Amino acid sequence: MAMKKTPEKTILRALAGETQTTPPIWMMRQAGRYLPEYRATRAQAGDFLSLCYTPDLAAEVTLQPIRRYGFDAAILFADILLVPQALGADLWFVTGEGPRLSTITSDADMAALKPADDIHDHLSPVYETVKILSQELPSETTLIGFAGAPWTVATYMIAGRGTPDQGPAHALKAENKVVFETLLDRITEATITYLDMQIQAGAEVVKLFDSWAGSLSGDEFHKYALLPAKRIIAALKEKHPNVPVIAFPREAGDGYIGFAHATGADCVAIDNSVSATWAAEYVQKDGCVQGNLASKHMVTGGQALIDETRAIVDAFRNGPHIFNLGHGITPDADPENVALMIETVRSC
Ligand code: CP3
Repeated sequence: MAMKKTPEKTILRALAGETQTTPPIWMMRQAGRYLPEYRATRAQAGDFLSLCYTPDLAAEVTLQPIRRYGFDAAILFADILLVPQALGADLWFVTGEGPRLSTITSDADMAALKPADDIHDHLSPVYETVKILSQELPSETTLIGFAGAPWTVATYMIAGRGTPDQGPAHALKAENKVVFETLLDRITEATITYLDMQIQAGAEVVKLFDSWAGSLSGDEFHKYALLPAKRIIAALKEKHPNVPVIAFPREAGDGYIGFAHATGADCVAIDNSVSATWAAEYVQKDGCVQGNLASKHMVTGGQALIDETRAIVDAFRNGPHIFNLGHGITPDADPENVALMIETVRSC
């Protein structure tokens, strides 16, 4: 039997369970509007979706934060809503407001969606972006692919937009469970084949974003956040046993406890509604955790940023940790504060 080699890259070492003196670092939405070079490339593409579907430009914006800051990982530039579009939903972005989609609320809407296996023609530019990146990234940088988790993607497909409380998805779940569960299944199947293709194209890690997991509780959290993640991870591990998976059931609270173990994830990403000391005690005992500096520090900076960054590094010091924000960086962030965060982590 071949010996399992210790990976070289810092992110892969953390995901393999190694405790490091300096945690590796990357940042959710690290390619984004807070960077002037991102805004320039986005203008060149014309709009956000054209940027996602133009491999050279998507690869370019993925590389920008690596060049500027030397993050330990690059995350593929794309969006979780490309999967609904590939399944046949209409998708567009309203400037200053966010995404809009055609809605899924009936059997007829559901029947009009494509089968999960039919998404690849539409998504082939994304796989091309991954291929370019796997050639162009520095050898020490890990390439992370991603998809939205089924519940989060379903909340947008059902409402046709982002909602503060995911009300329309909760309503469909109560009123037409068959359509709701069929939709969740379709997204689950599409996500498995989508992430499989990203891995085949060169993604070294994949992350599952369940941004609205926190609005599910009890049995529903188990059924609609935990079980789909488990199914996706099991299917991926069957084909790619050595590719680590990061799960992000955002705002899961107590639901973070045991989530990695129950789903087979190699790492759980933690938002900043829970404290790092709590997460170190209850979540990191199962393995690697990622997080969890509040994004607001990228806007406000100063001593509070330094203190909070050090406190997080300290809290997670005795186990595997990937430093990150608790959620995506916002467009009003100051690029200097990102540099300060990285400098602070690397000098802890
Ligand atoms: O993190 C990265 O740098 C990689 C790229 C990435 C984007 N979106 C680019 C993006 C990733 C991983 C995502 C994930 C995503 N997309 C999530 C899950 C994570 C989270 O933030 O909770 C969700 C819910 C979406 C859906 C989405 N995309 C919304 C609600 C919006 C509008 C809100 C906003 O920030 O404008 C987007 C647009 C979007 N996705 C932008 C970027 C850089 C901004 C688009 C622009 O340039 O105008």
